[in-house]
Amino acid sequence: MTSEQPTRLWGGRFKGGPADAMAALSASVHFDWRLAPYDIEQTRAHANVLRSAELLTADELARVDGALSAIAAEVLTGVLVPDANDEDVHTAIERTLIERLGELGGKLRAGRSRNDQVATDFRMYLRDHARFIAAAVIDLMDAFVVQAERHVETCSPGFTHLQHAQPVSFGHELAKHVHALGRDLERLSDWDARAARSPLGAGALAGSSLGLDPEAVAIALGFESALGNSIDAVSDRDWVAEFLFVGAMLGVHLSRIGEEVILMTSREFGWATLDDAWSTGSSIMPQKKNPDVAELARGKSGRLIGNLTGLLVTLKGLPFAYNRDLQEDKEPVFDTVEQLLLVLPAMTGMIETLRFNTELMAKSAPQGFALATDIAEWLVRQGVPFREAHEIAGSCVRQAESRGVELWDLSSSEFAEISSHLTPTVSTVLSLRGSLDSRSAFGGTAPVRVREQLAVLSAQNEALRMRWA
Ligand code: ARG
Repeated sequence: MTSEQPTRLWGGRFKGGPADAMAALSASVHFDWRLAPYDIEQTRAHANVLRSAELLTADELARVDGALSAIAAEVLTGVLVPDANDEDVHTAIERTLIERLGELGGKLRAGRSRNDQVATDFRMYLRDHARFIAAAVIDLMDAFVVQAERHVETCSPGFTHLQHAQPVSFGHELAKHVHALGRDLERLSDWDARAARSPLGAGALAGSSLGLDPEAVAIALGFESALGNSIDAVSDRDWVAEFLFVGAMLGVHLSRIGEEVILMTSREFGWATLDDAWSTGSSIMPQKKNPDVAELARGKSGRLIGNLTGLLVTLKGLPFAYNRDLQEDKEPVFDTVEQLLLVLPAMTGMIETLRFNTELMAKSAPQGFALATDIAEWLVRQGVPFREAHEIAGSCVRQAESRGVELWDLSSSEFAEISSHLTPTVSTVLSLRGSLDSRSAFGGTAPVRVREQLAVLSAQNEALRMRWA
């Protein structure tokens, strides 16, 4: 009924080992082994703190250091793996140290508990992986900037309610994604500033009596400082939920981008063609080319949102200290990280290689009376109140619709009949380029503004790369 020779960090007060089902429920090593490199680094920093408190001799510290270096290398190459009986990564690393260093290995738990250990490892892991995610987001942002630069002069229909609304520069359309993704990275930076606090030294909850210095170990591990309350330090998972929100929001952006690609590559739109490398075929219909990258991005956003909501529910009723429920915080995070690192490079590849049918986009840009607002705004520039201008432009649409023609097909006499304000010069705004150029306010779609915008975005991407390097 019980595990054979269990390796436990808490055996002393127990007569027997845990039941198999208990051990199986309790085990987390099958997923928290990912934290091994951080646990090793943390153990090294902790050994230094123990040395400063004269709880290790210089010689002992050197031996611990040597053993940790060997263990780190073996973990990296996969030579060292946990035992079936190791409850978690902390148990596995400590057991290995004891096997190699004897009693000395057992000295390293002084002044820390798995509660602060796991919170520290996990913060280190996540701050590290946030950098990989950021780099992958910046790659995607770059891909959008490059495509947008190619299409500053391409006119395309702009939509509201997925109905033709106003013509826009397609470069402007593509650049919008860089802004959304840029906000995701801002959120990640804000998050990192709060995550950069170390829980190590909190012990199980009350802090250490051994003269250890949590600030020193925090700095050694790349944190800004130690957390100011030892109970909060082991209880806080706000930073996990916050990270999962950033991931979910990013996932939602990827999903919406995916949805647009799915639409654009449909036969009905015919705006874009997927590169073979970034699409898949059908097992039954030989002609098919499917936008699977975009669909998987859209699909995965569901689980990213689930990871956030799942954790929030786990946290909701917990007293503010360590509770074993908190072991449930890791899998959703690993999943969010791993899914994002799968989706982002594929999205980048897909976006980089999309080919656009610019002729078709330009042709359909003014259709659906998309220049009606241009008539109204032209009238406003002639001094007509907008309410009246809106009515007049609406009448133009009605007239064109009843004749089955576009707005620019209306004759000067038809315009004059609709309103005396509609002099023949109205035709100057009834061209695509005229419409685009007129929207030259900051943030608008006029090609001159879009070029400026893209220059800013390019510079911003470069600065972001430095920030996250
Ligand atoms: N594997 C545990 C976790 O992920 C480590 C902390 C265990 N602490 C405890 N008091 N049992 O939360």
